[in-house]
Amino acid sequence: MTTMLISYLSKSGHTKKMAESIAKGANGTGCTVILKEIQKTTVDDLKGANAIVIGSPTYYGSMACDVKRLLDDSVREHGKLSGRLGGAFASSGMIGGGNETTLLSIIEALLIHGMIVMGNADIGHYGPVAIGAPDERAVKECETYGKRLGELAIRLAK
Ligand SMILES: Cc1cc2nc3c(=O)[nH]c(=O)nc-3n(C[C@H](O)[C@H](O)[C@H](O)COP(=O)(O)O)c2cc1C
Repeated sequence: MTTMLISYLSKSGHTKKMAESIAKGANGTGCTVILKEIQKTTVDDLKGANAIVIGSPTYYGSMACDVKRLLDDSVREHGKLSGRLGGAFASSGMIGGGNETTLLSIIEALLIHGMIVMGNADIGHYGPVAIGAPDERAVKECETYGKRLGELAIRLAK
């Protein structure tokens, strides 16, 4: 069984909607998708997943502290996530509000874990972003992201 954990923080629902859209895209690729709020996500959940996708609202240009807390806690399993697939998505209040720096702050931690991060040559290079409530473009991008990640997770698990 190949599992994809999509863990997110969302206070007003924007990042949650992105997480659900990524899950929709990943469903049907053969991955078992687990959607979880970051506050309920444990380090063991990370350890149990083939692919880990983390979403955060942009808080002062970076990931929110609940997201950082989980990543900091994950140090106790440092090295065990090496070779797994990782990804990130982010929501912000405004264009230029720091979505990409938020993505990179998450991706940095995933890379330090030794994880594999997939880029995109055509759309959202670092991962999907939304400004406020995800519009049609953002939803479609999240679905595409989920599908591509799911397909890659299945390939890596072979
Ligand atoms: C503490 C805090 C800091 C924020 N910092 C930024 C910021 O630096 N740039 C920005 O564009 N939006 C910022 N926002 C807005 C959120 O990123 C934005 O509303 C996001 O869509 C919320 O996602 P959610 O609905 O999943 O909680 C901030 C919001 C809060 C509460």
